[in-house]
Amino acid sequence: MLEQFEKIGKEAISDLKKVRDLKGLEEFRIKYLGRKGQVTQMLSQIGKAEPQERASAGQLANNVKKQVTEAFEKLKQSLSLSAKEQTGELVDVTLPGLEPQVGKMHVITQTVSELLEIFSRMGFAVEYGPEVEDEWHNFIALNIPQEHPARDPLDNFYIDNNVLLRTQTSTIQIRVMENQKPPIRVVAPGRVYRPDTVDATHMYMFHQLEALVVDEGVTMVDMKSTINQFIHAFFGQEIQWRLRPSFFPFTEPSAEVDLLWINKEGQEEWMEVGGCGMVDPNVFDAVNIDSEKYTGWAFGFGIERLAMRKYGINDIRLLFENDLRFLKQF
Ligand code: DAH
Repeated sequence: MLEQFEKIGKEAISDLKKVRDLKGLEEFRIKYLGRKGQVTQMLSQIGKAEPQERASAGQLANNVKKQVTEAFEKLKQSLSLSAKEQTGELVDVTLPGLEPQVGKMHVITQTVSELLEIFSRMGFAVEYGPEVEDEWHNFIALNIPQEHPARDPLDNFYIDNNVLLRTQTSTIQIRVMENQKPPIRVVAPGRVYRPDTVDATHMYMFHQLEALVVDEGVTMVDMKSTINQFIHAFFGQEIQWRLRPSFFPFTEPSAEVDLLWINKEGQEEWMEVGGCGMVDPNVFDAVNIDSEKYTGWAFGFGIERLAMRKYGINDIRLLFENDLRFLKQF
């Protein structure tokens, strides 16, 4: 009887190897594993075995059944899988795809790139300076001595007595003029830090774009026409802007640049976006440039406010909250 069981097992396995499709597999199942199948029948014969053979007959029969069933299930799985593949059942092309998450540049980074591109086209070189600055570059060389009241709104974030986080990118004007002689024509973007109380248009950290032009015979007309060209290139022709007389220690005369915008309350008003003016002769003296021979103009614009006006963002804080729903719009 044991031999007969083994024979059934071997035949079943070799029969199974010949099965090529689901139909053949079903025939196999009926022949071996069905109610009248050989493997099923084999189990019912255990009881007929000689008493001393019964235990090993039972064990063998169960082993054979297990092997045949497992091989059958395995083949069944792979046959039905390939059948589905053939009919295309596995890939439902009508389902919406998985959208990959694509990152993008922050709106301020994009704005910086755009500003640099515009000024590059106008012949400006790009310069950078350190965010941790000394008192000389941040104040003294810019004609802001120690007791000068112009320090008040800027004095903050000191690292030690005369090292601080820069409060303005005008520091880069000094660094450029210490290293280059005229003609100079540069723009310099960067972060600045201020003791400002945060509101819809103020932040303790923001970005500025500085510009500096130094040469013989440079006048305020050059400054105004450059700013005008830049504003029209960046915003389009329809924008309204104005120069308003002002004071900065490092320029004389000085002015502020205002843009007409709609504020958070929905009112139209002038928003200050930066300062400008003709480089003060004291600044040239500090960097050993002959103020009799050369004149120059400079400006410093707040990049967040430029972006706010351009994209209709009415609160500067939105730019720093890292809310993707907001940032993805740009
Ligand atoms: N640095 C000034 C500020 O942060 C802005 C400024 C005014 C920059 C006049 C200039 C300038 O280059 O000429 O408030």
